Amino acid sequence: VVGKVRASIIGASGYTGGELLRLLLQHPAVEVLSASSERCAGRPVTERLPNLRGLTHLRYVPAAEIAADVDCIFLCTPHGVSAELAARYSAGPARLIDLSADFRLRDPATYALWYGRTHPAPELLEHFVYGLPELQRGAIAQAHRIAAPGCIATAATLALAPLLAAGLIDPQRIVVDAKIGSSGSGALPTQATHHPQRSGTVRAYKPAGHRHTAEIEQALAPLSATAPTVALTAHAVEMVRGILCTAHCFLLDSANVTAAQLEATYRDYYSAAPFVRYVHEAHGVHRLPEPGPVRGTNYCDIGCILDPHAGRVVVVSALDNLVKGAAGQAVQCLNLMCGLPETTGLTAAALHPA
Ligand SMILES: NC(=O)c1ccc[n+]([C@@H]2O[C@H](COP(=O)([O-])OP(=O)(O)OC[C@H]3O[C@@H](n4cnc5c(N)ncnc54)[C@H](OP(=O)(O)O)[C@@H]3O)[C@@H](O)[C@H]2O)c1
Repeated sequence: VVGKVRASIIGASGYTGGELLRLLLQHPAVEVLSASSERCAGRPVTERLPNLRGLTHLRYVPAAEIAADVDCIFLCTPHGVSAELAARYSAGPARLIDLSADFRLRDPATYALWYGRTHPAPELLEHFVYGLPELQRGAIAQAHRIAAPGCIATAATLALAPLLAAGLIDPQRIVVDAKIGSSGSGALPTQATHHPQRSGTVRAYKPAGHRHTAEIEQALAPLSATAPTVALTAHAVEMVRGILCTAHCFLLDSANVTAAQLEATYRDYYSAAPFVRYVHEAHGVHRLPEPGPVRGTNYCDIGCILDPHAGRVVVVSALDNLVKGAAGQAVQCLNLMCGLPETTGLTAAALHPA
């Protein structure tokens, strides 16, 4: 279709790639040319993605058949694989948007520290921009290569940024408790994600050392005079999609901070961010952010509560790990890179009840 952005997805049989296909097939300015899977090559995409029946006749092709001369290639592949693919397409004309962790950390030494191995393609790092539009809309609009943030990193960074930027909290005493649904582990089952092992329980699967800690600290560093230290714990909980982050922050001057000031700080900081909603209601059941009302959408809901007793601010954020935490954020970045309104193709409301 003349004038449309011609896009291909590598890794479209997985959860983020499938979600990207769902979003792009409904995007008015994008045409999806091809979708890859090694294991499903030759099969209709609707065999893996029955929700897309009637919307597409695409069949999976192997990644090797994804042409370089399209407008944008999305890499929805495991880390390591993305680096190989980025090298393959690096000389080509296509914009690249990588959903893996390969190009999120600027410093290869930080990557080695958190990922326990040498960076697979350090020479490509300088071309990638961290794709968190709420913090760097301008850089994304100029970029040709995007490293889409991690899902927990997105929820935590958006929750913390306004408080750090306002200089209200101790940057070295930040505790983030994240709960995530099973789709966060991808479509390939493992023993830990197998239904009988995962259902009916809550598991602190990464009490310390979660890799997203590094990108949260990296993204927040420019907002704070002192480099922030984030203590992150991640829990696997009983849901398929969604993240709920509870951040505990300690005020530098608790006597002089009011709840109204906190709310104004958030509303102000995100006044031009169409996908961040401030949520702190006085009535009803859904008073604070929770995964249900954002499921399937690109919203990140954020609310904060003042706890004068402990000199603490509790910030609660919720998003869908496959949308604002992955595919939706990638589309938001594509919109910015192409000069389209940021919300194009991303305006559908969530189901309720979800
Ligand atoms: N799940 C989330 O919530 C989430 C959120 C943010 C970011 N991410 C990141 O996004 C990436 C994809 O995650 P996911 O959850 O969608 O994973 P997934 O469900 O396991 O899907 C992985 C995809 O990559 C393809 N693939 C695997 N090895 C390949 C290779 N050597 N060459 C070409 N294609 C290959 C698979 O295709 P086959 O059919 O051939 O196996 C599949 O389509 C990961 O880097 C992940 O860390 C995930």
